[in-house]
Amino acid sequence: MSDKENKKTILEISNLHAEYINPQNTTEKIPILHGINISIKEGEIHAIMGPNGSGKSTLSSVIMGHPHYKVTKGEINFFNKNTNKLENIVDMPAFERARIGLFLSFQYPAAVPGLPVSQFLRNALKTLRNEEISVKEFRKEMNDSMDFLKMDNEFAKRYLNEGFSGGEKKRMEILQMTLIKPALAVLDEIDSGLDIDALKIVSDGINSLIDGKRSFLLITHYKRLLDYVKAENIHVLAGGKIIKQGGFELVDILESKGYDEIVKEAQ
Ligand SMILES: Nc1ncnc2c1ncn2[C@@H]1O[C@H](COP(=O)(O)OP(=O)(O)OP(=O)(O)O)[C@@H](O)[C@H]1O
Ligand SMILES: [Mg+2]
Repeated sequence: MSDKENKKTILEISNLHAEYINPQNTTEKIPILHGINISIKEGEIHAIMGPNGSGKSTLSSVIMGHPHYKVTKGEINFFNKNTNKLENIVDMPAFERARIGLFLSFQYPAAVPGLPVSQFLRNALKTLRNEEISVKEFRKEMNDSMDFLKMDNEFAKRYLNEGFSGGEKKRMEILQMTLIKPALAVLDEIDSGLDIDALKIVSDGINSLIDGKRSFLLITHYKRLLDYVKAENIHVLAGGKIIKQGGFELVDILESKGYDEIVKEAQ
């Protein structure tokens, strides 16, 4: 067997259908995902591209278990590092999914006034690792990661995302990821709003975690992120369905043709 065939499957999404349920009026349901199939093996880097409103952020929320979205059909199987088994996680709460190795960086990270970054990160790490971390040990880990991401250590004292610029919020997401070191990171438009230098720094942060075991699902509109972080598997999402899958060459085809033409070709 080749090395690739030997690799275990980390995420297997099959025939996934999901809808948004309005929490204020639970009879209001909007079907958004209409049969998604994606399979990710350990160490693989995948990217989802697709027009605005195609369901990319919805898919990432559904993978992470956002309570406003309901899976109506299909499965999300994830390799649980604690049980060493591929398990259907559709009914698992979000915090449990984080515990077994899933991480999602938000397209629009929320601000939490009153919660200092350092407190948030230390609590998150304690909960996810299920062990105490001394303040000294934590500070060292956090400061090393902040230095790597060229973030001023003063950020640790600020309230989470409160008044952060677009680019600072994205760096904050990557800081969380580099500390948590998830088995699978789903990064929703981590490149949006970044200047050229910040894009390089954020990409370095992602690349620093690549070790042949961890897997990534990048959601992006542009090739520029994929020039730094090499995704070998590209999925095009449109109208809640994967309409095309391919290798890196698909990114160039998308850039030259545009989504419109690819969507028409797929119909
Ligand atoms: N909470 C919600 N309330 C109402 N509609 C929603 C909600 N969440 C998603 N939708 C709808 O589902 C569709 C998919 O939205 P989604 O945010 O997943 O798209 P996207 O592919 O991430 O787009 P973008 O590239 O603009 O980020 C859109 O038409 C959106 O309006
Ligand atoms: Mg989105």
